[in-house]
Amino acid sequence: MRIVLVGLPGAGKGTQAAYLAKNLPVPHISTGDLFRENIRQGTELGRQAQEFMRAGQLVPDEITIGMARARMKQPDALDGFLLDGFPRNVFQAEALDQLLKDDGTSLDMVLDLVLPQEEAVTRIAGRRVCQDDSSHLFHVTYNAPQEPGLCDVCGGDLYQRHDDTEETVRKRLEVFDRVTSPITEYYRLRKLVVEISALGSVAEVAERSMVALREHGLRADREDTRDCDP
Ligand code: AP5
Repeated sequence: MRIVLVGLPGAGKGTQAAYLAKNLPVPHISTGDLFRENIRQGTELGRQAQEFMRAGQLVPDEITIGMARARMKQPDALDGFLLDGFPRNVFQAEALDQLLKDDGTSLDMVLDLVLPQEEAVTRIAGRRVCQDDSSHLFHVTYNAPQEPGLCDVCGGDLYQRHDDTEETVRKRLEVFDRVTSPITEYYRLRKLVVEISALGSVAEVAERSMVALREHGLRADREDTRDCDP
């Protein structure tokens, strides 16, 4: 099962991917999370990525594709994955196609989370992420932690991402429009895209995601949308 999630920054890709990964037999692979983990650990890759991320720019393709390829080759991803944040331009989409072709496989589906831009900005402005596990995502209003500043799941400190400032978010949205949005057309021509509205609660969007997967012939291990908390 090989699925790509696309959508504006803040559309809820990470939130939905974390839920879907609990219900599907494949891992959630987020290039943004991989970069942030490298930055946290102070690796050379993290050092190279940091300045681009802080500026709201894409990290260069040669760095990103190498990192994504290495992650997809790990044992837990050999039978599939849920990709979030990759590919992010047509060049990366072509590289992914080639990588899968070399392995004798292909993508099953591209799930497009559609959200008005103003709502995406509101979601990003209130986002808080767990320092210890980036799949534990909160929002100060929509999905507030029980104790402000602390993760409900593991008690880790919550922080605001460095690229979630108003100026950087505007840049990321501009980059999305110009560079990332053409990949939807690239995949639409291959009849892989299923669009769903990302408006509504996390559970409502999760329910729509599951219906989309089912209609595409992809089955989950379990489908309990009460399990939508991080
Ligand atoms: P990345 O981490 O991928 O960020 P992004 O694509 O901008 O997406 P976000 O993580 O901001 O949003 P999301 O859609 O995951 O929303 P979320 O679920 O968190 O990339 C960051 C940077 O890394 C890039 O700018 C680039 O520099 C670099 N990079 C990464 N991949 C790259 C690549 N392939 N090539 C080059 N560079 C790359 O939700 C947002 C908030 O809304 C949360 O607070 C959440 O709690 C809340 N929320 C979610 N769903 C709902 C809902 N239904 N109702 C109410 N609130 C909700």
